[in-house]
Amino acid sequence: MNFKEESLYLAPLYNRFPLTIVRGEGVYVFDENGNRYLDFASGIAVNSLGYAHPKIIEAVTSQVKRLLHISNLYYTEPQLELAKKLVRLSGLNKAFFCNSGTEAIEASLKFSRRWGKERGKYKFISTINSFHGRTMGSLSVTGQKKYQEPFEPLLDGVTFIEFNDTKALEEELRKGDYCAVILEPIQGEGGINPARKEFIETARYLCDKYDTLLIFDEVQTGIGRTGTMFAFQHFDVTPDILALAKGLGGGLPIGATVINNKVAESLHYGDHASTFGGNPFVTSVASVVVDEVENLLPHINKVGRFLGNLLKEKIAPLDDVSDIRGIGLMYGIDTKSNARSICERCIKERLLVITCGKNTVRIVPPLIINEQEIEEGVYILEKVIKGGI
Ligand SMILES: Cc1ncc(COP(=O)(O)O)c(C=O)c1O
Repeated sequence: MNFKEESLYLAPLYNRFPLTIVRGEGVYVFDENGNRYLDFASGIAVNSLGYAHPKIIEAVTSQVKRLLHISNLYYTEPQLELAKKLVRLSGLNKAFFCNSGTEAIEASLKFSRRWGKERGKYKFISTINSFHGRTMGSLSVTGQKKYQEPFEPLLDGVTFIEFNDTKALEEELRKGDYCAVILEPIQGEGGINPARKEFIETARYLCDKYDTLLIFDEVQTGIGRTGTMFAFQHFDVTPDILALAKGLGGGLPIGATVINNKVAESLHYGDHASTFGGNPFVTSVASVVVDEVENLLPHINKVGRFLGNLLKEKIAPLDDVSDIRGIGLMYGIDTKSNARSICERCIKERLLVITCGKNTVRIVPPLIINEQEIEEGVYILEKVIKGGI
């Protein structure tokens, strides 16, 4: 492919790696020359079942023959089936479907505002270094100036506190005019920063105390990524609103906002909608993904522990590495050098890894990865970070 043509025809928004991927199989992808790459990136934590998974092929082909889209003016069974599964697995009560992570957050913010309307509460609390998406609402609660500044003014009424700062959270909530607190249980784009158990549990307690909703953004951490179906299940809490996307569709674009009855009771017909949201094609495939991931949870825990131990043993001692954080199949490696250059050198060695921030290399492989494939990737990463290649 001619990379130069890109700038003639596509908006100048993506600083791509110099690689054209044409197909994938299992945990490997192939470039246009037939070279094979081990994938530790999953299309940014999306391809939970890897590539060309037989169950996904079967779900896609059978639904293509039946019905792709019909709109939310009519009832469709796959959407209801997926909603039932997400409700059962999350302990929440109702689902709304959309097409991306940022839309799942927009819906979370609108539902919170709708709930807050009758209570005179419209403000949000978010955390510094968070990432919640690129549309104007999601961007307004994203705690990173580099994403916000070019597009200001944003939504007003958003307060940012330090992640894991329970004292600051209570000081704000005490003011009484917040409709919701939005948190990632593990900050993803912000550098794979896990929340402290005490912070998450106190957030739940304080939201109840001050009559404020708790939103968990699990766009990246949800659907098995951390070894539980949702990352909040590592803690003894349930949010009022749960935002999902990425891994839910196994590669198809889908977002979901799952809510409890308290939130649902404040919604009315027409308050929110999406033309494509939850169409029979994506929801029938997502249903299969959810079933498969549920079965994979013991496997994810096992290989996740293996990955964590191997990173500790082989990568943590390297001179260029200052910290490693993560859980399940979601890890961040802080380097003293430039994370992007590590990704570029890994590509040359046929391994795909990505960054989150300038100095953090992110590992989010397909959830089907096995121990041998993990060893293969960590071996390449070790060689590259050591500077041998
Ligand atoms: C935690 C989190 N929330 C929201 C988003 C936005 O998702 P999307 O890019 O699908 O709009 C992302 C994307 O990286 C994310 O990691």
